[in-house]
Amino acid sequence: MAGPLQLEERKQGKKILFAPSLLSADVLNMEDSIARLGGEADWLHLDIMDGHFVPNLSYGPSLLKALRKRYPDAFLDVHIMVEPPEAFVDMFLAEKPSALTFHLEATPHTHRVLQKIKDNGVLAGITICPGTPVEMLFPVLHMVDLVLLMSVNPGYGGQAFIPEVLDKVSALVNWRASNGAGFLIQMDGGIGPANIAEIAKSGCDVVVAGNSVFGQADPAKVIADMRMIAERR
Ligand code: DX5
Ligand code: ZN
Repeated sequence: MAGPLQLEERKQGKKILFAPSLLSADVLNMEDSIARLGGEADWLHLDIMDGHFVPNLSYGPSLLKALRKRYPDAFLDVHIMVEPPEAFVDMFLAEKPSALTFHLEATPHTHRVLQKIKDNGVLAGITICPGTPVEMLFPVLHMVDLVLLMSVNPGYGGQAFIPEVLDKVSALVNWRASNGAGFLIQMDGGIGPANIAEIAKSGCDVVVAGNSVFGQADPAKVIADMRMIAERR
């Protein structure tokens, strides 16, 4: 089991890590979009959508492959919104993600999928939609490296933050402390400068932000500003 020390190491001394979602980047100029992050991004977040588990399509393993080739040292955080995940994990694992996160709601075989990811030396993440109780995660928390709490219903960028999700963070923080676990807590959807303070205060370790970052003229500055607000807590 990953321990608390590992958690701190993964945060590299930072209070919170920022993972901009490439869903809101310029698809014809992905390299330029990434350059405009100006080194402020800690991770790059890739949203994979299957038009079945979620009502939208995005991209597949070929983008992950191209990113890994172009940015060999980047932390590539892959969030697969696909059903069933066991039919897709191999094709993503082959392209060397840093973390691979799938939905609890998309499979009855959570332990098996998590183990497969871990066996490949990739950080294993699990995620739940806003309407799924956090307690559903408890049986697998001992095996995960990352828990992603969706703060919008997955499928699209630019949706409004669902604040009820904040209560789930404290439940995870408590479970982690009581069980000596070291997973990171991540939140995804509707996050920007207006709500980063309360999200950071809730105890999140990693935040995903798409529209609020790439929708602005200076994405690097948006992240720097959010980091400053988050560090103030
Ligand atoms: C939603 C995706 C998110 C989304 C975040 O299905 O998982 O990563 O793109 O985008 P914003 O920050 O625009 O809500
Ligand atoms: Zn995502």
